[in-house]
Amino acid sequence: MEKKIVIGCDHAAVELKNKVIAHVEGMGYEVIDVGTYTSDSCNYPDIAETACKKIQTGEVPMGILICGTGIGMSMSANKMRGIRAACCSDTFSAAATRSHNDANVLCFGARVVGEGVAMTLVDAFLTTEYEGGRHQTRIDMMMALEGKY
Ligand code: RB5
Repeated sequence: MEKKIVIGCDHAAVELKNKVIAHVEGMGYEVIDVGTYTSDSCNYPDIAETACKKIQTGEVPMGILICGTGIGMSMSANKMRGIRAACCSDTFSAAATRSHNDANVLCFGARVVGEGVAMTLVDAFLTTEYEGGRHQTRIDMMMALEGKY
């Protein structure tokens, strides 16, 4: 997996995003930070769109999106073709969504998880490989829903 990642947040998560960026850079990743950069109120769908476009174009294979809950970011990201975003607050799910769902975006909430848990989510997500095999049929079915509805 290419060690390049896009990371974004809204105003609820700037501090945590900066810590996540430092952590991920420490893992050897090149990070594209799409903001937001201040605590001024902004709209999470804008950030999710900017980040996920970079995945759609192939500029980066994966992303991390953080808002207050992680929910608005994941809902927004999942509206975009080819995006499989998972909102997680436990490491089992963060790993399983890679191995079973081939998730390409991890979302979490700065008002839900603390810094320590956030880093374990990131580690689980970035170090777990997609298993393929029987899961691919289900991924194909999931992605077909994008064209169907
Ligand atoms: C912003 O107040 C908040 O609504 C946002 O960060 C997020 O939690 C939405 O899902």
